[in-house]
Amino acid sequence: MTGDTAVVTASAESPGDAVAGRVSLRQEELHASVSDPVLETMNFLNEITTRYPAAISFAPGRPHDGFFDTEQIFTYIRGYLDHLAETGSSPDQIRGALFQYGPTAGQIRELIASSLRADENIDVPAESIVVTVGCQEAMLLVLRALISGPRDVFLVSSPCYVGITGAAKLLDIEVTAVEEREGGFSCGDLEAAISAERARGRRPRAFYVVPDHSNPAGTTMPIEIRHELLELAARQDILIIEDSPYRMVSLAPHLPTLKSLDRQSRVVHLGSFSKTAFPGARVGFAIADQPVTDATGRTGMLADELAKIKSMVTVNTSPLSQAVIAGMLLACQGRVSELNTEAAAYYANAMRATLRQLDRCLPAERRAALGVRWNEPDGGFFLTMRVPFLAGNEALARSAEDFGVIWTPMSYFYPNGGGDYSIRLSVSYLALEEITDGITRLVGFIEAEAKQSLLP
Ligand SMILES: Cc1ncc(COP(=O)(O)O)c(C=O)c1O
Repeated sequence: MTGDTAVVTASAESPGDAVAGRVSLRQEELHASVSDPVLETMNFLNEITTRYPAAISFAPGRPHDGFFDTEQIFTYIRGYLDHLAETGSSPDQIRGALFQYGPTAGQIRELIASSLRADENIDVPAESIVVTVGCQEAMLLVLRALISGPRDVFLVSSPCYVGITGAAKLLDIEVTAVEEREGGFSCGDLEAAISAERARGRRPRAFYVVPDHSNPAGTTMPIEIRHELLELAARQDILIIEDSPYRMVSLAPHLPTLKSLDRQSRVVHLGSFSKTAFPGARVGFAIADQPVTDATGRTGMLADELAKIKSMVTVNTSPLSQAVIAGMLLACQGRVSELNTEAAAYYANAMRATLRQLDRCLPAERRAALGVRWNEPDGGFFLTMRVPFLAGNEALARSAEDFGVIWTPMSYFYPNGGGDYSIRLSVSYLALEEITDGITRLVGFIEAEAKQSLLP
């Protein structure tokens, strides 16, 4: 069949091209998301990093490698298997728990639920949890379940993590961005956006936010705003999707999660073990304790609906990966915060070293003259910086080539455009000596760009 979706190439132009008669597809005839810049951003950063391997990179939001110990993986799995035996599983059941397809909603839900009670003051039944392939899958499941059609409005605090805007693109969900102000998110702005959507005849459904040390801005939502946001959600009858992977990699006092303050099941909480434990395991979860009533009047939980969707996406999260994470939770009695004491101190030091070096290289008077400013997060991986030049892919390529330093353009994180004069710096992955050197290089680049823009 010679349908609309494929073009048949008649000849190969160069070696490696398609052989004669081989099908060749047009990108514009694939799903629109694959041509969307959001799905290209990570590729571009990876490509720049590969092209300039000697450059110091403030781009990756990865945990520091120094806290990983390969041998520990075996210890954790062993710990979980011992736990299964101690709690009554037979050798056959243990073998099945590792080798076989597992329950779609996950096999370590009890351990996650008790960890949430121990560490987060979140008390939910294990059945309200769905274990996912990273938090990324949880985003996809939650969006798929909650947004039923074009009338439903999905709001995000902007700038916003690309994982959620990317997931929305895959699902053809339009995102309504609520722009943060200098100090962070404002409930008044969210309420205005909700009212404007209602006036257009649409149904505001859910609001996504990263309340602690956000990616990308590095902002943390104050306690009074958390309460205000929950009241707003009740008043406007919307759900909140809370995503907070950076709260435990911080020495700053942990403010309560929105979920722990939630008395109305308005919050769907997304969890990740990527920043705190083991990113390669790809284990995350959703807490979805919202009651859902079906057409016959039977009531279950949103988690059950998420599990149905998951059964058609990844079937189940790798039992081996769940076993390692379970072993980690058992080893720290569920206190992920304790598992991270050393790492959190490292990240706090890295943030301090970054801020100190910025201050040293660009004292107050100089940065005022240049129009440069940055925020000073009290934890997490990221800070943002306002710069006096267009900070897009071209500037990034010059920075990598001429100054050996890589950062992330903030424009990647604005669903409706913006952030053209800002950059994100991630401090988590680098060694402390690299930070000092990297910031010196970055300031050299900023000075050079500023001088360039002053030329007639
Ligand atoms: C805000 C936020 N949510 C979720 C994730 C992804 O988590 P996971 O690795 O569990 O998919 C990240 C990773 O960078 C993130 O910054």
